[in-house]
Amino acid sequence: MARRIVLLPGDGIGPEIAAATVQVLGALAVDLEFDEHLFGGASIDACGVALSDETLAACRAADAVLLAAVGGPKWDSTDPAKPRPEQGLLGLRKALGLFANLRPVRPLPALYDASPLKRELIEQVDLLVVRELTGGIYFGAKTRTKDSASDACVYTRSEIERIARVAFSSARSRVTSVDKANVLETSRLWREVVRGVHASEFPDVELEHMLVDAAAMRLVATPRHFDVILTENMFGDILSDEAAMLTGSIGMLPSASLGDGGPGVFEPVHGSAPDIAGTGQANPLAMFLSAALMLRHGLALDTEAAAVESAVDRALADGLLTPDLGGRATTAEATSAVLQHL
Ligand code: IPM
Ligand code: MG
Repeated sequence: MARRIVLLPGDGIGPEIAAATVQVLGALAVDLEFDEHLFGGASIDACGVALSDETLAACRAADAVLLAAVGGPKWDSTDPAKPRPEQGLLGLRKALGLFANLRPVRPLPALYDASPLKRELIEQVDLLVVRELTGGIYFGAKTRTKDSASDACVYTRSEIERIARVAFSSARSRVTSVDKANVLETSRLWREVVRGVHASEFPDVELEHMLVDAAAMRLVATPRHFDVILTENMFGDILSDEAAMLTGSIGMLPSASLGDGGPGVFEPVHGSAPDIAGTGQANPLAMFLSAALMLRHGLALDTEAAAVESAVDRALADGLLTPDLGGRATTAEATSAVLQHL
């Protein structure tokens, strides 16, 4: 039976990298049916909201959701009454209960020299950011008057427990739980709950706690130190962009957002890059790698996932470099290079 994939191309370079990804997935011997829907700014233009009831219903009914990127200057505004493309993304994560965001960071030897960091630092880095995705300051109550504004940061014990379990189960050796426990009450609860889950369910995994400012520094000073980084929503957002530079470009980083059993959302960590939209220059590799995560985590197609990942690795080893990596390959050239190895 065909697996139903809802495809959300979104904005900016989104439609270009989404089309390239459909081509790559089409080369696999699996029966995938794509159902494309408007999302983000494109949806605001068409129907006034970033996530329509119709798009959400399609996502709920799908086996997996493959999302490219949302946002752009056209919809940027500081007016709280204006709809924003990002509301679609946050609304979808919340509505599907996608509390666990996995962002693997694995610099490839072919790209060691594309990273602004020294090769000696990034060799053998293989880490996973486990970001809590449906709580914290992103989803707390917001207020705004002419001269003041606030965003509440709230976490509950059960929200921390379930993401901690994901992190401990993904660890090979160590979980580094990142917080700001010297300042924030939510971080002190976070630390206490993570300790509890560790002691009662995962005593064999090493656990350490690190303050987020120190973690930001360690990530570029000694990135090999990390195995799994477990952290709350906003710290995870920031640290995963930083970690992306270990791979040479944010254009390389995929992510999987998973909940409890329903369809997951698979999307690159990068944004919609409006500055290069329509030029054919976008690096589609993070989107291909997100599709691989979809095959593995969303559809239990491990062999096919590995095939896509290894085709990307081999295309890069063969010299493929998009402009963000210091080369000149276009989206179309990058796509055919990967297809050749698939
Ligand atoms: C990400 C993005 C989103 C986030 C934005 C677009 C709302 O930066 O997925 O990392 O902050 O979660
Ligand atoms: Mg981000």
